[in-house]
Order: sequence, then C-alpha cells, then structure tokens
Amino acid sequence: MITSKAQATRLVHLVEDAGYARAAETAPAIPPRLHLKNATVDFGNRQWPAVENASLAIGAGEFIALLGPSGCGKSTLLNVFAGFQVPTSGDVFLDGEPQRGPSAKCGVVFQKHSLFPWRSVLENVAFGPRRLGLPNPLGIARDLLETVGLSDVASAWPSSLSGGMQQRVGIARALATRPPVLLMDEPFGALDAQTRALMQEELLSIWDRLRPTVVFVTHDIEEAIFLADRVVVMQTRPGRIAREFDVPFARPRTTGIMDEPAFIELRREIADIIRAEARKSFR
Ligand SMILES: Nc1ncnc2c1ncn2[C@@H]1O[C@H](COP(=O)(O)OP(=O)(O)OP(=O)(O)O)[C@@H](O)[C@H]1O
Ligand SMILES: [Mg+2]
Repeated sequence: MITSKAQATRLVHLVEDAGYARAAETAPAIPPRLHLKNATVDFGNRQWPAVENASLAIGAGEFIALLGPSGCGKSTLLNVFAGFQVPTSGDVFLDGEPQRGPSAKCGVVFQKHSLFPWRSVLENVAFGPRRLGLPNPLGIARDLLETVGLSDVASAWPSSLSGGMQQRVGIARALATRPPVLLMDEPFGALDAQTRALMQEELLSIWDRLRPTVVFVTHDIEEAIFLADRVVVMQTRPGRIAREFDVPFARPRTTGIMDEPAFIELRREIADIIRAEARKSFR
C-alpha cells in the first residue's frame, strides 16, 4: 500500500524507469557513426605497433578531439577512420557498415595540405561538389572561401599562398561536400594565434549549423577542450587510447570558459598525462 506522497512519487519513477527500459529494449539500436573495435595498425617498422587495440565509439554529431604526443598514432587512427588505412587487425565501421575504403561521407583535412597545384584555389574547393554532381559547385566554393576568409585569393594558384592559407583552403575543400563526418588532422597547426582563434569559432559555428561528426587531431590542449564534447588522449609506444574526458561546458561556448576552474583543472589533468607520455618517446 502507498502510504506517503514520497512513496507515490518513487513508484511513478519506478514505473517510468521500467517503461524507458522496455522502450530501450525494443527500439532498434542506432549504431555509432564511427566505431573502432580493437584496431591494431602495425607497419612492421618499429618494435611496437603504431596503434594497438584501440576501441572508440563516436555518435552522430559528436565532436571528438584527439590528443597525444608526437608519433603516438593520431594520424594513423584518423586514416583508419577515413578508410585510407586498413587495420592489421580489428575493425572500423561507418554507420554500422565496415569501412573498406575512402568514403564520400568523410571530409578529410590532412596534416600537410594536399591541394591540386594545377587548379586554382576556387577550383580546388569546387572539385568535390562537382564530382558529386551537386548544383552550383562554384557558388558553394565561393561561400566557403568567404567562410575561411580567402575570397580575395579565389583565382590564385595554391603555391602562391602561405602555408596557413593553403591549410584554410584545405578546410574549405573538406567542407564543400557537406560530409556527415569531418576528419581533421591538426588543421589549425600552421595558423597564427589570431587566425587560429577565428577559425576555431568559425568551425564551432559550422558544426552548430550542420552537426557533422568531427574527429579533430591537435597538440593544443586548450583548443581540444574548447572545441570538443570529448577529449581522447593517446599514449605512445605502442599507440593506445589512454584516457577519455567528457568536456562539461555548455554550448555555445565562448573563450571565457578558459578561465573557469573546471577548465583549468581539466587542462592540468590532460597535460600531466601528455607530459609523461612525451617523456617516454624521448627515451
Ligand atoms: N605509412 C607509414 N609507414 C610506416 N610507418 C608509419 C607510417 N605512418 C606512420 N608510421 C609510424 O607510425 C607511428 C605513428 O605515426 P603517426 O603519424 O600516426 O603519429 P602522430 O601521432 O600523428 O604524430 P604527429 O603528432 O607527429 O603528427 C610512428 O612511429 C610513425 O613512424
Ligand atoms: Mg600526425
């Protein structure tokens, strides 16, 4: 018998919880957008694999930052997600399907820019939309060049741009096909501090509008926390996923969060792990 209001409320909660549990049992499970299962990549050129037994499930629209010392396997892992690198063992799935090669669903920004030197900046960005048969590829390219602040150099050759500008063209090119997955390898590494801050804000605004799933490799701990929902820290020799941190800050974010004690504490905790790992790779 229910004897108090508190008991009644608890009963309602119990019934509701049971209902949710039943609903969860019967609802079809949505696979993670990207799912890495026990992936090892061994190039056979070191005593240790580049990546060992890495598992990571990334939901649709999630923003993941990947941090770790040089050589810990970040680019290798990104290449596995992109379908450019087949794991020696283990699996990678995109929307529940095995990722067997490069996919149009993934836009990739490489660590070193990889523009077509024989095409203008505009034509580099228009290339993807044109190939996919999207309407108005040049219009898409012009819009994106404006987004990354490069309208002025649309007709220039890539070789006439600075490294940072070339990298921004690479970002525009990766975004041009509106891919549901964006894989970015240190995309802002070559930018000056001011441009970098602007690009971070621009990326967050693009992400907010289009909600792609993002895997963003960086060496910058503040950048990782500022941008991501989850920070994945890798360790080295062999490359493994060491820790994952949920980032507790609400969106939209402003740079003001960097002064909050929770931000500073998270930054310190991540820095401690990376410092210890970086020391390992110097031995
Ligand atoms: N194609 C390749 N062939 C042979 N070895 C490779 C290849 N690509 C990467 N490696 C090795 O795999 C390890 C991880 O390299 P990776 O480029 O993934 O590191 P990273 O974390 O991206 O480093 P960085 O921060 O310096 O970019 C390194 O030991 C590297 O020498
Ligand atoms: Mg790399």
